[in-house]
Amino acid sequence: MINNKFGHAVIGYGGMGHFHGERHEHIKDLEFLGFYDIDPAVQKKGEEEGAHSYSSRAELLADERVDLVTVATPNDVHKEIVIDALRAGKNVICEKPVTMSSEDLEDMIAVANETGKMFTVHQNRRYDGDYLKVKHIYENNTLGKIHCFEHRVHGSRGVPSGWRQEKEHGGGMVLDWGVHLLDQMLTLMAGKKMLSVYAECTHITNFDCDDGFKAIIKFEGDVSWQIEVLTNNFIEMPLWYVCGENGTAVIKNWKGDGEIVMVEDWENRDSVPIKAGVGLTKTMAPRTDDSIKHFPLPDEGKDDWDAYYLDICDALKNGREPNVTHDQQRKLIKLIEAIFESAEKNVTIKF
Ligand SMILES: NC(=O)c1ccc[n+]([C@@H]2O[C@H](COP(=O)([O-])OP(=O)(O)OC[C@H]3O[C@@H](n4cnc5c(N)ncnc54)[C@H](O)[C@@H]3O)[C@@H](O)[C@H]2O)c1
Repeated sequence: MINNKFGHAVIGYGGMGHFHGERHEHIKDLEFLGFYDIDPAVQKKGEEEGAHSYSSRAELLADERVDLVTVATPNDVHKEIVIDALRAGKNVICEKPVTMSSEDLEDMIAVANETGKMFTVHQNRRYDGDYLKVKHIYENNTLGKIHCFEHRVHGSRGVPSGWRQEKEHGGGMVLDWGVHLLDQMLTLMAGKKMLSVYAECTHITNFDCDDGFKAIIKFEGDVSWQIEVLTNNFIEMPLWYVCGENGTAVIKNWKGDGEIVMVEDWENRDSVPIKAGVGLTKTMAPRTDDSIKHFPLPDEGKDDWDAYYLDICDALKNGREPNVTHDQQRKLIKLIEAIFESAEKNVTIKF
């Protein structure tokens, strides 16, 4: 502790390392003490920016003022650093994906249990506004029974250069954005049995690891999720598209543009055929304005930048498990393994 605050240090001071250092300035119970990065140029730059750099990982872990260590290195070295930090008596937040296999995760959890220290994962996107809106719609039964969630994140710049393009470092989009989208899904579907997954990985601009994927995941009660992360798409598609028995919700982007359309009178659905292409259709005739109503998306979902860290501080103060639990991570990594297996063998994996 330092000044009655939890002393915090970061290992790996790239994009996310800086994010953690800077975010903690907003959290009254955390004091950012410094960082260690394996790259001397990053060490030097961090010092120039005004942060304290430890000369080695060992020096950082030996600092008794450090209560909490965040690991923000590439994915392949999470395991060794997390275990090292736990054994040094530190509480640990690991960046996502926590690691790259269930076996590795079990080794990490075993050390956390042995040391009695907190070990959790930075699943920050549980507090994204778009996800919170969908959560609100689902939990309030706004659309009636939901049978289909589609959640897409599309970019057009391929996979960023560096370790993200390399399999041995845990690159690829399944282990990048996929982890967030799948974690949001599992959190929302907690308590529902997951039945199966079918997945395809894309290799359009990157061959060593995937540059995108599509997965269809089925849950009990006839609920299906379609999750897509693509990096080679030049026309924006909606972030969320959610279909219920009485209506549809669309969230177009991270700004929160979108709407809910509800049917007014389901019984009154007959129509005269319209011309479509070179044929006729009654089934696909558009709704008339008097039979549907348009509503704005719920106000409830706002990006909550502090919620993740407030939960960590509360968990540390009260000696409880944080919101992101070991069991949730086990389930997530198993699903990721199933996605890779499905894509590789071109089969549906049943759970
Ligand atoms: N939660 C999120 O929203 C989010 C967003 C982006 C990245 N991430 C995750 O954060 C982690 C880091 O990603 P990034 O974008 O910051 O990468 P980055 O490449 O910008 O930074 C990684 C840093 O780790 C350093 N490093 C590598 N090996 C090290 C070691 N053994 N010890 C100390 N430092 C080491 C590198 O020199 C580099 O400076 C990854 O696990 C990534 O998946 C999470």
